Amino acid sequence: MNKYNNLIEKAEYYIDEDQRIVSVLANLSAYLYYNIEELNWVGFYLFEDNELHLGPFQGKPAVVNIELGSGVCGISASKRESMIVKNVNEFTGHIACDSGSNSEIVIPLISKSGELFGVLDMDSPRLNRFDNELKEALEIIGHLLVDIL
Ligand code: SME
Repeated sequence: MNKYNNLIEKAEYYIDEDQRIVSVLANLSAYLYYNIEELNWVGFYLFEDNELHLGPFQGKPAVVNIELGSGVCGISASKRESMIVKNVNEFTGHIACDSGSNSEIVIPLISKSGELFGVLDMDSPRLNRFDNELKEALEIIGHLLVDIL
């Protein structure tokens, strides 16, 4: 039992294969932003031409291109592993988009066939905001999302 089961169930409503992917990502970023506490940025970076490109998001304007292996997003994408950074100020290579961010979680989005679609990125103004339970919930949402691609 994950305390985020309700969040997952409601997120499924927006993961609609009959809609364009940009619309799905836009609504999903807004849904997550307004339904998870203590966030200041939620969004997607999409992998194209060997780089991550800024996709739909909620929060302040952010860096547009991230190379694989750069920043928390690029490291998570290249390792294909979710990452929780308790204190971004102590993470070498962190790319600061909003000086108000203190912790971060990144979930890579990998299709069934093993293709890297992009990442889901979340920032919080609170140190150590993200835990394993939320990571697992976001990974489930990520799997539901790549299933409609
Ligand atoms: N902090 C990220 C960059 C994206 S912003 O947080 C929106 C990183 O280090 O990859």
